[in-house]
Amino acid sequence: MKIVKIDSNLIDELRTANISTNMKSLESCEWIVLEKNEEGIEGAAGMGGVFHVSGIQIAEKFRGKGIGKKIQNELINECIRRGYSFITVFNDPRNKTSVQLHDSLGYKKLFRIHYAKNIVNDVKGIAFDKKGRLFIQLLRFFNTKTGTILLAIALKMLHSVFPALIIYNEDGLPKPDIKWIIKNFEKI
Ligand SMILES: CC(C)(COP(=O)(O)OP(=O)(O)OC[C@H]1O[C@@H](n2cnc3c(N)ncnc32)[C@H](O)[C@@H]1OP(=O)(O)O)[C@@H](O)C(=O)NCCC(=O)NCCS
Repeated sequence: MKIVKIDSNLIDELRTANISTNMKSLESCEWIVLEKNEEGIEGAAGMGGVFHVSGIQIAEKFRGKGIGKKIQNELINECIRRGYSFITVFNDPRNKTSVQLHDSLGYKKLFRIHYAKNIVNDVKGIAFDKKGRLFIQLLRFFNTKTGTILLAIALKMLHSVFPALIIYNEDGLPKPDIKWIIKNFEKI
């Protein structure tokens, strides 16, 4: 397992291993925890963006063998070594393996957003110090109806820059649906 900065060679390697073909956001990370064997990359977990968002993808044939948990755990440890105050993740609650993986490593649910039809995410986080705990506490405001209304408006206004802030660069993301977000507010 190693920790590397993203560069064009690594992006090519991730694409060859079918890692970032499925999850382009890893290419926007600042650094990545990489698990490799003689044949290539088995999986990668990355970190980036102003909200310190983590992402992870394991090549299909290596899933369910504990690799995801191992590299996500190393990513958390590296964040502590680098002095991060907090980290976050966007977790689709229907993705049971990802939910189990992140919850078992200490990510706490902060709020849920029904971004648009069929796009739902739980935002989770871990705080490492006082500043981080304060930030995480502030994010819990979005776990209220008022918070969700303000978030929906902010997303609509910022939708062209928001993906860059959260290192999201997947294809085909629809615009946020304000009415849908508010109508489907769910306290978690
Ligand atoms: C989600 C993902 C990263 C998990 O990696 P993985 O190497 O397959 O997971 P692991 O083998 O380390 O297992 C992690 C946990 O999930 C559990 N798990 C594994 N496969 C599972 C399955 N099919 N259903 C339910 N739980 C499962 C494991 O028991 C383990 O639980 P534990 O923490 O209690 O021990 C991987 O499946 C993946 O790349 N999925 C596609 C991309 C994705 O969804 N990324 C997440 C974006 S936030």
